[in-house]
Amino acid sequence: MSQAPSPSMQAYRASVLHFRADPAFTPDAYSWHEDGLLIVDGGKIHAAGDYARLASTLPEGVTVHDYRGKLITPGFIDTHLHFPQTDMIASPAPGLLPWLETYTFPTERQFSEPEHAREVAEFFLDELLRCGTTTAMVYCTVHRESVDAFFEASEARNLRMVAGKVLMDRNCPEFLCDTAESGARDSEDLIRKWHKRGRSLYALTPRFAPTSTEAQLRLTGELAAAYPDTFIQTHVSENDAECTWVRKLFPKARSYLDVYDGFGLMRPRAMYGHCIWLDDDDFARMAATGSAAAICPTSNFFLGSGLFDFEKADAARVLLSLATDVGGGTSFSMLQTMNEAYKVARLKGSYLPAVRMFYLATLGAARSMQLEGSIGSFAPGLDADFIVLEPACTPLLARRAERCANLEELLFALALLGDDRAIRATYAAGHKVHERLPQ
Ligand code: GUN
Ligand code: ZN
Repeated sequence: MSQAPSPSMQAYRASVLHFRADPAFTPDAYSWHEDGLLIVDGGKIHAAGDYARLASTLPEGVTVHDYRGKLITPGFIDTHLHFPQTDMIASPAPGLLPWLETYTFPTERQFSEPEHAREVAEFFLDELLRCGTTTAMVYCTVHRESVDAFFEASEARNLRMVAGKVLMDRNCPEFLCDTAESGARDSEDLIRKWHKRGRSLYALTPRFAPTSTEAQLRLTGELAAAYPDTFIQTHVSENDAECTWVRKLFPKARSYLDVYDGFGLMRPRAMYGHCIWLDDDDFARMAATGSAAAICPTSNFFLGSGLFDFEKADAARVLLSLATDVGGGTSFSMLQTMNEAYKVARLKGSYLPAVRMFYLATLGAARSMQLEGSIGSFAPGLDADFIVLEPACTPLLARRAERCANLEELLFALALLGDDRAIRATYAAGHKVHERLPQ
């Protein structure tokens, strides 16, 4: 070809997989190129397809990175986790509420200290990238400094991240308490400072209904209406004792979810963590409002919270995504999160194919967050956030992968047996931000 290559054009040869639709509802939902090529230009996706078709379109001089034998997919999207809980992952307690009291609140107290928040944010982002997660919806703490520390760290790496200051003005230790007014003021300042600055996006973050007064939820709903393209994140219907508590605190609400609905907190880009004990009306309301469920299986097993009902959620056509919920979750790896999601489905009598799990961790999450115009697939023009998965990363996975008869079996082996070791490289906006060198 005579055309001069753009200096930033790069090509990657590997098997390439990405989704166009949810395989649970659409027969031809994904593109799979066994000998594929991904072409990136200026930090954006230029093309993805068969090597045989695309190689001849490359301008002369473009480097083709050889990842043959590996699998390229869009970067994983983790739709619910807590960066301040990194250092308390795997802390034992008999259930959610004692776990919050004993470990979570004392740990989060330390984030009034900006230097501490910065150090943890850097480690947290390293860990996400090691696990192939390029976008996450992140809870900070009640301290506005924790949000600055997080976005400063993610901006320096040019990552698409969504985060927000936790709002809580009751039922928490005094050292973590804001007020309805100060919480709203800080949130608005942080929206103005960070929302859509570079790749950063802001999420209004009332922790959960028990730690907010009606006044705080009302002001948060007003901010959600005033800044309709911001995100909302909170917890709902995770644990039995928590649900009982909410019924007591909000006796007029029809359900736990209805508390949030009553304050205008259900809308597109509202991400609800857990959603275990929702009833049919709740699921219908999730779908009708375009709110999305962030399913957190490792956390739900760890805290003994319960099993998400995929069948009911799918019957209502609720937007679904997978999430680690670190530090309630026990792994940063979305592969390990798929592993546990699969078992949740089995225990509920339903079945989650591996192609669906990879959809939920990529395009499904992007759709849940209304970010499918930026991330989640390899449609031309999207941000070039992608990962290189290495099926031969451990002796056992290598042996199993060799015997896989089709794509479903290969993805299933990666999900059940893989973790950070299966992530050979992670790219954000076209730049390599993590590489695992062969051991
Ligand atoms: N509910 C309220 N806060 C939290 C939290 O930090 N983690 C989990 N898993 N549930 C919550
Ligand atoms: Zn959580």
